[in-house]
Amino acid sequence: RRLSPQVGGRIADRVFDITRTFPLALDVGSGRGYIAQHLNKETVEKLIQVDIAENALKNAVESEIPTVKVVADEEFLPFKEDTFDLVVSSLSLHWVNDLPKAFREIHQVLKPDGVFIGAMFGGDTLYELRCSLQLAELEREGGFSPHVSPFTAVADLGHLLARAGFNTLTVDTDEIQVNYPGLFEIMEDLQGMGESNCSWNRKPLLHRETMLAAAAIYQEMYGNSDGSVPATFQIYYMIGWKYHESQAKPAQRGSATVSFGDLAKIEGLLKRGKK
Ligand SMILES: C[S@@+](CC[C@H](N)C(=O)[O-])C[C@H]1O[C@@H](n2cnc3c(N)ncnc32)[C@H](O)[C@@H]1O
Repeated sequence: RRLSPQVGGRIADRVFDITRTFPLALDVGSGRGYIAQHLNKETVEKLIQVDIAENALKNAVESEIPTVKVVADEEFLPFKEDTFDLVVSSLSLHWVNDLPKAFREIHQVLKPDGVFIGAMFGGDTLYELRCSLQLAELEREGGFSPHVSPFTAVADLGHLLARAGFNTLTVDTDEIQVNYPGLFEIMEDLQGMGESNCSWNRKPLLHRETMLAAAAIYQEMYGNSDGSVPATFQIYYMIGWKYHESQAKPAQRGSATVSFGDLAKIEGLLKRGKK
């Protein structure tokens, strides 16, 4: 709950960095609409919010942008090709079963020269929780099953976006640390963010004793001096463009007039050019 508005704000900042007006935008996995909240109608004139959970859409926060809400799965976007000038997505893509397909869908519904700006959880997310649960389970139950979903590695993300057809890619990562009173409050917050299924899908229940052991391990290994515990969320931000011929592109092979080897002598070459 604390994280989503913050990441939504950072996505909106990246939208504002592009100095143009977007007549029609799509928010994929919009949930309660924390991106729209940070945008304005001068930048995005109309927004379609898509989420698989009707309830989340119903409880969306207010926004000044005219908005249409659609219940749909982001792996099967119900829109025509070349429809949107902008697609945004915050913290929902780690849920999909088929990420390459979701990227292809997003690429398809974008207009040429349209842009996709997204954020998703990265591989180091909740490593403290993962480690504490594994240690506690090993100790109490003699084995462990993963309780925190595996996240995509940053190196894969660029490849996936490129394979979906995006170009002029930017991928960067950010870490946000949130302090909590203890492990149980972290779990509660994850539940509030709609993240609990993702973390708990392998084994329906952990024994209470194991949970208590995990809380103690968490405190011991990662605890702050004031008694609180940090939880790390790693977030990948990505920007990708759909190709349009007006975009800058690399020069044709063999069209260079100076070889790379001569770059060290660039000053001399420039002087010669001036004469
Ligand atoms: C953690 S919430 C993030 C919501 C919102 N973008 C935000 O920043 O607050 C994840 C959202 O993804 C939605 N979601 C999960 N899988 C989905 C899918 N396959 N298609 C569409 N939405 C999905 C969930 O319903 C949930 O609202």
